[in-house]
Formats: sequence, C-alpha cells, structure tokens
Amino acid sequence: MSGASLQETARALVADGKGILAADESSGTIKKRLDSINVESTEANRRDYRALLFSTPGAGQHISGVILFDETLRQNAADGTPLVEIIQDAGMIPGIKVDKGAKPLAGHPDETVTEGLDGLRERLEEYAGLGARFTKWRAVYRIGETIPGPACITTNAHALARFAALSQEAGLVPIVEPEVLMDGDHDIDDCAEVTEEALRTVFAELAVQEVLLEGMLLKPNMVLSGKDCPEQAGVEEVAARTLRCLRRTVPAAVPGMVFLSGGQSDEAATLHLNAMNKLAGRASAEPAPWKLSFSYGRALQAAPLKAWAGDHDKLAAAQAALMERAKANGAATLGQYA
Ligand code: 13P
Repeated sequence: MSGASLQETARALVADGKGILAADESSGTIKKRLDSINVESTEANRRDYRALLFSTPGAGQHISGVILFDETLRQNAADGTPLVEIIQDAGMIPGIKVDKGAKPLAGHPDETVTEGLDGLRERLEEYAGLGARFTKWRAVYRIGETIPGPACITTNAHALARFAALSQEAGLVPIVEPEVLMDGDHDIDDCAEVTEEALRTVFAELAVQEVLLEGMLLKPNMVLSGKDCPEQAGVEEVAARTLRCLRRTVPAAVPGMVFLSGGQSDEAATLHLNAMNKLAGRASAEPAPWKLSFSYGRALQAAPLKAWAGDHDKLAAAQAALMERAKANGAATLGQYA
C-alpha cells in the first residue's frame, strides 16, 4: 500500500486536467471488443492490448488512474513487467472492478441487481496487496414503461453502499457507479427523473452505511435522450440537465464526478464534459462543488482498438489514438477543449 489516505487518493484521481481510463472489461466484454477487430480473445492478446494502452508514452499527463479487471491486475507484459508496475511507473493509479456483474433481479423481468458482496472483504484485501488503490462497482438501471421500479432502485443502492463501506475499510477508494442506460426511446426528461431517483437513493444508503463521502468518487451517467429517441437533446441541454440533476442529489463533500461514456460517440462524450466544465468548472461563474471528470471505457478505447487491430506494427498508431482522446478529455475537464 502507498499509505495515501482515502481523501488523497480520491483527489488525485480527479486532479486538474486528468481522468480515469476504464479498462476493466470482463471476459465477455473484452471478447466482444477484440472480436470487432478480428483478434482472438486469448490471454496473451488481452495482455498485449492492455500493455499497449498502459505503456502509451505520456499517458500519465491526462490519465490519473486505470480500472482493471481481475485478470489484468495479476498479469505481466510479454517482457515480464507486471502491468500494475507499468501503470505505476507512468504516474497512474491502479484500480480494480470488484463487482461480479448485473444479474437478473428475481421477480422483476428486464431489471438487474449487481452481485459480488459475498467474500468481498477477502478479495479487497488481496487486491490491496496486489497494488490496487481504488475499486469500482457498477449498478445498472434500464428505463422502460414501468422500470426501474423500487426493488431495482433499492437493492442496487444497498449493494453499492455495502461495497463502498467495505472498500474504505480496506483502504481503497470506492467508485460508486449507478448507470442509467441510454438504451431505449425514452426522452431526456425520463432519463433525468430516473437518474435523480437512483442517485437520491444511493446517497441515502451511503449515509446509512456511514461511507466517508470525501473518500469516494461517483461515476454517474450523463442525462441524455435515449439512443432511439427521435428527439435528441443538444450538447448545452445535456450539460445543463446533468448538472441540475447532480446538484440536486450529490453532496458537496464528494470530491469528484467521473462520468461514464455509456455508448456515446467519442466526440459527444468529450463535448458534453467540456460543456459541463464551461458551465460549472472552477473558472466558471457558478462553480460546482465537485470536480467534473471522466472514467471512460469505450470513448477512450474505441479509437486505439481500431488503430491497433492486432497488428504489432500499429502499436505507435494505437498509442497516438489513445493519447488524442486522453488529451481531448483532459482539456474537457478544464472546459478548454476546442
Ligand atoms: P464506458 O465509458 O464504455 O461506458 O465504460 C465505463 C465503465 O467502466 C462502465 O462500467
């Protein structure tokens, strides 16, 4: 362990101009990503792809931390260097996804509850020993005619809060991720309503479990129109609606928001973050109490994945593609993306 306090680690993860690279795809998801470039999902290919990302020269200028999957935290690069060491040497903080995925919620079709609390204390202890300094748990809320309902909202909030408390007990900063999906034809009002309810319930549970707000980060979705909604809200509206929702629900003691990209295009994810920081960043007329940063998976990785395509000779091109997205999003955390 580095000895850094929860507050210090949380603040470092949202340092000015920096955000998080989410590279914690589970086995099924990374297979889908590699399938898309016709690369077989072998342990060696997963390792090489992730080693490529983490060893991008200068990545630490814009990336504060990297979220890993269990396999990656234990893996060595082809030359024997632990991937965790590559991350640390670049000045980035290693973190770990600790949930075991969203599972069908009994009696509630189309809704899920995220599992993984059993044995979590022991796993966290091991992860801390392997170099992780923060953790992530993702709850998922799908919007439909009558969902999400109270069972989904309350069970997921409870699990998130227990995860957060256990993480802090282990000296690890929890990233609490309640994700309202953008899948569907709902409008932005529906997204705002569900996001508000989910967040309000999550923070009530975090209070019950006595989670230290100063020692955690929130990973929220942005308030967006559903992907299939005929009317798509523009950048300014998304920024304003997201901020309004967060101001209504998230205590000022939380150091930062690290948004997920959730299937937005790379450019949209950057523009939305930038617009929010223009409206409510430190230099704005009405600064928000928390940093507004990113913890993007797809919006950082889509470009390098495509550029690499499994070809060793394309390593530099892939790293350049990652740097371009990281730099753009780093600028967006300051409202300076042009
Ligand atoms: P996306 O940015 O691709 O949504 O991934 C972030 C993440 O970690 C989801 O859990």
